[in-house]
Amino acid sequence: MSKKITLSAEIELVEFEALSKVEQIVLGKAKSVSENSYSPYSNFQVGAAVALESGEILQSSNQENVSYPVGVCAERLVLGYAGANFPTEFPSIIGVVAKRKGEESWASVSPCGMCLQGINEVEMRFGKIMTILILRQDGQVFRAQGVKNLLPLKMDDLKS
Ligand code: THU
Repeated sequence: MSKKITLSAEIELVEFEALSKVEQIVLGKAKSVSENSYSPYSNFQVGAAVALESGEILQSSNQENVSYPVGVCAERLVLGYAGANFPTEFPSIIGVVAKRKGEESWASVSPCGMCLQGINEVEMRFGKIMTILILRQDGQVFRAQGVKNLLPLKMDDLKS
């Protein structure tokens, strides 16, 4: 016997100008830091920024390695930095942008599965959900409230 189960997820499509001021700043910082991407292997420049509840904004770009799996995504670098340096402050917003080297327009990117699992860890650690902003090629923004909307079957409980 088999039973079909439908998983639901909800994200908003928001005009950039309709984002809150801090959300706009987060994406702006993600855009500027993407220029520091070290991505000679993929030529895909990713920027990620987080807003801590204190208002401080942190940002990182992706950093690759000749041994490809050693490279780290922008999102996990910025979340790791936040955890390492501001362990008690919840990063309530994360924004992600990407661009192919040499291209003018932004590319649409969704955080990879490992990064979504990384976001999940932050949500579990603080018992709160993050606002996740993804810049699209057309300049609009996907906004998700909580990683469960992007990774419905996340690994999230070792206790039960
Ligand atoms: N990348 C990120 O930085 N974040 C993602 O969520 C997706 C992928 C990086 C990894 C690699 O350096 C390049 O983009 C191409 O996959």
